[in-house]
Amino acid sequence: MVNDRDDASKWVRTVVVPAAGMGIRFLPATKTVPKELLPVVDTPGIELIAEEAAAVGADRLAIITAPNKQEVMRHFEAFPDLVETLESRGKQTQSEKVKRAHSLLNPIAVEQNKPLGLGHAVGLAESVLAEDEEFFGVMLPDDIVQPLTAMEQMVAVRNKLGGSVLLAVEVPREQTFNYGVFDVQDTSDDLVKKVVGMVEKPDPADAPSNLVATGRYVLDRKIFDALRRITPGKGGELQLTDAIELLIQEGEPVHVVVHSGTRHDLGNPGGYIPANVDFGLKSDVYGPALYTQLKKIIADYEADGCA
Ligand code: G1P
Repeated sequence: MVNDRDDASKWVRTVVVPAAGMGIRFLPATKTVPKELLPVVDTPGIELIAEEAAAVGADRLAIITAPNKQEVMRHFEAFPDLVETLESRGKQTQSEKVKRAHSLLNPIAVEQNKPLGLGHAVGLAESVLAEDEEFFGVMLPDDIVQPLTAMEQMVAVRNKLGGSVLLAVEVPREQTFNYGVFDVQDTSDDLVKKVVGMVEKPDPADAPSNLVATGRYVLDRKIFDALRRITPGKGGELQLTDAIELLIQEGEPVHVVVHSGTRHDLGNPGGYIPANVDFGLKSDVYGPALYTQLKKIIADYEADGCA
């Protein structure tokens, strides 16, 4: 791994996970179940994020929660009674699944009392970082990226070029209004671009490119100071994008790694369903039968003239 474990200043120790949203696009499911606990096959999105954070070498997961979303933190508890019951019944595989989240890393709850935006949420994590932590990771749980090594590449770029590094994907220009959009310049590495501007959810006609932020950030600690200086932006919220733009304007290095793997958006049913199909097909347990069923569902759909 590129995360240099021998030098603590060169690897991500804390990953911040903003998870205080109301899950509006998932109502009515999210009346009682936090969006981050909805499963991809059988594993909640928040556990997939914890796994990715642990894979990059982080040992702290700062979860930004809302006061009514305690169940997200509960998912990381030990559940000794459940483990004992499962083991006494010989259900070892299920027992391992229950224990997994608790064993990955140390989750720390940070409460966000009001939904003031992603920038506000990330700013709250400052208290969790150690004094000598010069940079940290942010993983948005709506975005599931694979392979799990995406942030490792970003950390390698940070260690080489300094500053902050974000993950980027290309989307059709007409979709840019959903994302933070980058204005970039080429570097000698095809997959690394220098960011010269960033704008949150622009009108597609004004988008500086079709390269957008996809939920993975390696941020220099200077972001906290920038977050204190921004004012409400798009949607009346404090936007992380605006703080990054401020750092760029002040000459701080910001780069993107262009993602070469897959990405799913768990934030709405239209992205959540394909994520389940993709992970389901790759599952040893469910994949073969799912493949057969999907082919039949699609054939019936086409026969009905729906396609
Ligand atoms: C957030 C960010 C946006 C980014 C997106 C990635 O928006 O503000 O810059 O491109 O996540 O998923 P949200 O989807 O939370 O509205």
